[in-house]
Amino acid sequence: MLYNEPSPLEVKVLTRRFGLPNSASIDTYLATGGYQAFRKALGMKPEEIIDEVKTSNLRGRGGAGFPAGMKWSFVPRTSPKPKYIVVNADESEPGTCKDRLLMENDPHQLIEGMLIAGLAVDAHAGYIYVRGEYRYLIDILDKAIAEAYRHGYLGRNLLGSNFHFDAYTHTGAGAYECGEESALLESLEGKRGVPRIRPPFPAVVGAFQCPTVLNNVETYSAVPAIIRDGGAAFAALGTPKNGGTRLFCLSGHVNKPGVYELPMGFNLLRMIEEVGGGVPGGKKLKAVIPGGSSCPVLTAGECDLAMDFDSVAKAGSMLGSGGVVVMDEDTCMVRMALRIMRFYAHESCGWCIPCREGTTWLRKMLARLHGGGGTASDVSLIGELARNMLGRTFCPLGDAAAMPTIALVEKFRDEFEEHAEGRCRYSHA
Ligand SMILES: Cc1cc2nc3c(=O)[nH]c(=O)nc-3n(C[C@H](O)[C@H](O)[C@H](O)COP(=O)(O)O)c2cc1C
Ligand code: SF4
Repeated sequence: MLYNEPSPLEVKVLTRRFGLPNSASIDTYLATGGYQAFRKALGMKPEEIIDEVKTSNLRGRGGAGFPAGMKWSFVPRTSPKPKYIVVNADESEPGTCKDRLLMENDPHQLIEGMLIAGLAVDAHAGYIYVRGEYRYLIDILDKAIAEAYRHGYLGRNLLGSNFHFDAYTHTGAGAYECGEESALLESLEGKRGVPRIRPPFPAVVGAFQCPTVLNNVETYSAVPAIIRDGGAAFAALGTPKNGGTRLFCLSGHVNKPGVYELPMGFNLLRMIEEVGGGVPGGKKLKAVIPGGSSCPVLTAGECDLAMDFDSVAKAGSMLGSGGVVVMDEDTCMVRMALRIMRFYAHESCGWCIPCREGTTWLRKMLARLHGGGGTASDVSLIGELARNMLGRTFCPLGDAAAMPTIALVEKFRDEFEEHAEGRCRYSHA
């Protein structure tokens, strides 16, 4: 199993089985308390399950941080339509690599989370939508699903109850946009993965036009611990309104990159220094992207910060999907902006003009600037174009491309201006 050395500062709730022999097998899962939370939930009323999740202050780990219990409460349980559980395992945000570890090392924890969500909203089928590049995970997930059927944790009359639940895996084709929830649902239904108009939201009109709970892998994986130990215990691990732990994907210029499970609100500088072993070669910290490539960059001076959704938002960025990208003093920010924009221009689904054209123009201007062929007016134009995309696209991918660009130009304008004069202090131009 692929997993970095754990840190003594970790608080292992979701990752507690990582590193155990055969951690993905049902035998290991059952021997370590697995499926006990589902057994407990079978004796609870659906509202009690939802209340427990609300008490836990669990917020969606896919990016937006929406309270999970509240999302579940929007599902019309009494609707005559079937309801569905959908797992967002698309994990495409650059800098993010935690869901793969959860599925690789502890797939039954995810299945148990889906079962409990199913009980809470009266759903009897669940789909795990896995990004195309994670094809190897399908074997692991399918094996776990087959084991769960054999042991009576999937199928009919589960643990002697009336409850039945079926689980399926579904692969995407490797499109970032298919991680956006409504595009994911289109893709799951076999159509082109472009977003839907909302409202209605998936809780009311989701998969196959039926009420659907759609959450990230990490969000579902937290649910067994919440039901097992109680929502209050999970909430107490984090900060107010930001319950539990978070899997942070620490990458870039750190001595010990890896995925670390830390309490919500863990200080970012401590994360870099004490968990990640500091910046290599004794170099100075220059900047950090705190939650995946779509989040505005923070300068070193802004990094003395509690890593929870509200604190990072207050600092002008986002906790996003937990992808913490560290940059040292020798990082060229024009190059960084170009790399980010290459990704978004490539991944724009092309549905709406501000994103399709905007990302392409930005990519071209940044490439020109980076290559030494830009002009002084390009710097202002890049910022202006990105600001004009904000809030004017059909789905948040346009914002995801614009926000990091705006922050990079505003916070490191001198570097952009130097490039316009044909100079790069890091000699990349
Ligand atoms: C362009 C785009 C890509 C996204 N990619 C992912 C993804 O790969 N995984 C994910 O869980 N959420 C992704 N999201 C967020 C989802 O739309 C959705 O908010 C999330 O899956 C809900 O689950 P949560 O409440 O548990 O976070 C993406 C959003 C956008 C706009
Ligand atoms: S913003 Fe528009 S073009 Fe970009 S991914 Fe969303 S729908 Fe597609």
